[in-house]
Amino acid sequence: MTNTATSRKRRISGNSSATAPAATVPKKTPVLPFDGTRYWKRGRSSIHASGLFASRDIPRGARVIEYIGHRLTKAEGWARATEWLEKASGTNKGAVYVFELNSKYDIDGNVPWNHARLINHSCTPNCEPRVLRGHVWIVACRDIREGEELTYDYGYDFEQWEDHACRCGSANCIGYIVAAEHRPRLRRLLTARKRAAAQEAAGRAATR
Ligand SMILES: C[S@@+](CC[C@H](N)C(=O)[O-])C[C@H]1O[C@@H](n2cnc3c(N)ncnc32)[C@H](O)[C@@H]1O
Ligand SMILES: [Zn+2]
Repeated sequence: MTNTATSRKRRISGNSSATAPAATVPKKTPVLPFDGTRYWKRGRSSIHASGLFASRDIPRGARVIEYIGHRLTKAEGWARATEWLEKASGTNKGAVYVFELNSKYDIDGNVPWNHARLINHSCTPNCEPRVLRGHVWIVACRDIREGEELTYDYGYDFEQWEDHACRCGSANCIGYIVAAEHRPRLRRLLTARKRAAAQEAAGRAATR
């Protein structure tokens, strides 16, 4: 399997680094100053295993939680993400905790004190990761009601899309975890595959 590093890491929309696709940043949410409010609690997720949930109503733009961990060089980040993915292969365990911070560094958030690592992906997220003064913050991109599961777009590359089934359950879930910018392309590909399968089935039925 020849994964690219970025398909194994979470990409940060709103990041000004060269690796962040501009198309994932339709409009940056204006970020509010952090006032120390704790907005989250852990819980069982209908998306996957554990997740984070809003412990109170959260206003758009609030810094919900910081994504913390060990700072790694790009080479270390690549190796770490590969290692997690290989360990998790064939299990139902979370696999990817390495976050792209900027063009030089990544963050490995797989440490017990990083509660933000539990946030699951959604095709219709209510949060977005932002790099603010060298720190990764998970920011509410819309008003969130108490009890809602906190999610953001993992921003995965198009490569290996078939390896990452999405169970976010949102109305416009495409079925696979890929960045919003890749979804139109994936939608076209899935439609073409469906059509080809239907034609093949019709052909088989006609020759019976
Ligand atoms: C960083 S973990 C998120 C926390 C995870 N739920 C846990 O309990 O460890 C990332 C992993 O969660 C799972 N995951 C997150 N969002 C998902 C989604 N929308 N659909 C399916 N699996 C998801 C995948 O296994 C992914 O590799
Ligand atoms: Zn989805």
